Amino acid sequence: MNTKIAPSILAADFANLQRDIEMVNQSEADWFHIDIMDGVFVPNISFGMPVLKAINHHANKTIDVHLMIVDPDRYITTFAELGADILTVHYEACTHLHRTLQAIKNAGMKAGVALNPHTNVSLLEDVINDIDLVCVMSVNPGFGGQSFIENTYKKVRQLQEIIADNNATTLIEIDGGVTNKNAQELVKCGANVLVAGSYVFKSNDPIETIRDLKEITRSENIHNS
Ligand code: DX5
Ligand code: ZN
Repeated sequence: MNTKIAPSILAADFANLQRDIEMVNQSEADWFHIDIMDGVFVPNISFGMPVLKAINHHANKTIDVHLMIVDPDRYITTFAELGADILTVHYEACTHLHRTLQAIKNAGMKAGVALNPHTNVSLLEDVINDIDLVCVMSVNPGFGGQSFIENTYKKVRQLQEIIADNNATTLIEIDGGVTNKNAQELVKCGANVLVAGSYVFKSNDPIETIRDLKEITRSENIHNS
């Protein structure tokens, strides 16, 4: 499978949001990664519904929404109405994860689960067939621009094994500190989607940076096949 690249809009220039969205539209990126933070689950507040609505108005690729909020069940239908294609909730924020996953799918979206760096991937074993995407956090959620946590490689390999053992079709997404230095190894370990915020938007030529990430993963995909 071709690795997907998902630029994280958190690192965009919010005063030039339309310009940055058009850039992603025109690039080789596959998805828009949208980080919603509530200042409770994580120590930061990003942006909310009106901004997502504005983004969706211009974006012409899959909208991948990463909820870093407590009690996400409250907003599942709202995010469906706002145009989310994939809705990811945090394992640590869900008391009844299985029920939450069904509610996301019933609302017409793909269901994702994000894991904080300290959360073991084996905790998903009993629901892996109900999950469309696992977002493995490779930094502590809340901020862009942090350094990649090396233990992520091990987690991705373990998760890949759980997915294969259960004949699941779950995608593995990596979120935090992704650059050209770790992209290839992540794909080798089993990653299917790479989120990249600062690395893309703070680069001199974001289109070229996305192309470069895509190229790195492409060579690894060919190598694996
Ligand atoms: C962190 C967010 C990430 C963030 C990634 O809490 O979930 O999506 O935007 O940013 P970088 O790529 O800069 O680490
Ligand atoms: Zn994210």
